[in-house]
Amino acid sequence: MNHHSHHETHMHRDSPADVLDLDAEVHRGYLASLVEWIADRSAPRVIVDVGAGTGTGTCVLAERFPEAELIAVDRSPQMLARVRDIAGQYGFQDRVRTLEADLDAGWPDVESADLVWAALSLHHVRNPNVFLQQLHDSLKPGALLVVVEMESQPRFLPDDIGIGTQGLEARAHTLAAERGWNNHPDWSDDLERAGFDVEAVRRTEIDLDGNTTTARTYARTVLGKLREGLGNSLSADDLDTLDRLCADHGLDSLSTRTDLRVRGNRTAWAARKLDRGVK
Ligand SMILES: C[S@@+](CC[C@H](N)C(=O)[O-])C[C@H]1O[C@@H](n2cnc3c(N)ncnc32)[C@H](O)[C@@H]1O
Repeated sequence: MNHHSHHETHMHRDSPADVLDLDAEVHRGYLASLVEWIADRSAPRVIVDVGAGTGTGTCVLAERFPEAELIAVDRSPQMLARVRDIAGQYGFQDRVRTLEADLDAGWPDVESADLVWAALSLHHVRNPNVFLQQLHDSLKPGALLVVVEMESQPRFLPDDIGIGTQGLEARAHTLAAERGWNNHPDWSDDLERAGFDVEAVRRTEIDLDGNTTTARTYARTVLGKLREGLGNSLSADDLDTLDRLCADHGLDSLSTRTDLRVRGNRTAWAARKLDRGVK
């Protein structure tokens, strides 16, 4: 499903919501395979998407589980407005509700779910152990929690891009990692400590053609954000190279290069609330 195709496909889609939509478009195949992995373990009637963002997970799950009611939870009203918009475009409005809640303030008062989906969101929660404990205690036995994370932003370029100093992207990612971007533990221990049974962990390497309009725009957005976020930590030479890459035109621009890929990874944890006394 391409529930984001109504957007323009020019190179400037830079808002936080745009980044999430681009990520969803580029990783559509991955998401489709992930929901099949979930369908092997769960036939949910109630699904809660925590830290739902623009509704990537909500919509993919609504499509795969046509009988399910879905509740998208986020603290951002702007994000939730996008969820409602997109859910409406695909005819899911009768099954998708949104709930504005700050997960740092505790597990919200939401009906008990058969499936909880927390994609790229658990590492944002201030005290994930308290959160996981509250979530665990709120669930019915048999309910499944799926947590998804990525280790870093995707990479798009070869080491040698013909300009600047080789290894620019690796240097930028090392700096970003030092600043804790996307930092998350292996959640297995935290999940078990909260009482969940970690049934499966699925780590997927992603390596896609990056020479498509969407991937180019995604690359420009991600590299532009690295440039913005790392600023003075990068050398003048690297900053200049990033500017040339992110420029709208020119031989070095991401809009015209032919050597782009989308390389990254995602890890998914499937964690079950057990029947009391079974564990
Ligand atoms: C990186 S986005 C992931 C969105 C979506 N799950 C996806 O896979 O595209 C993280 C989302 O978590 C939300 N978020 C972060 N901290 C939160 C909190 N304490 N309470 C509720 N939502 C939170 C943000 O507003 C954002 O929409």
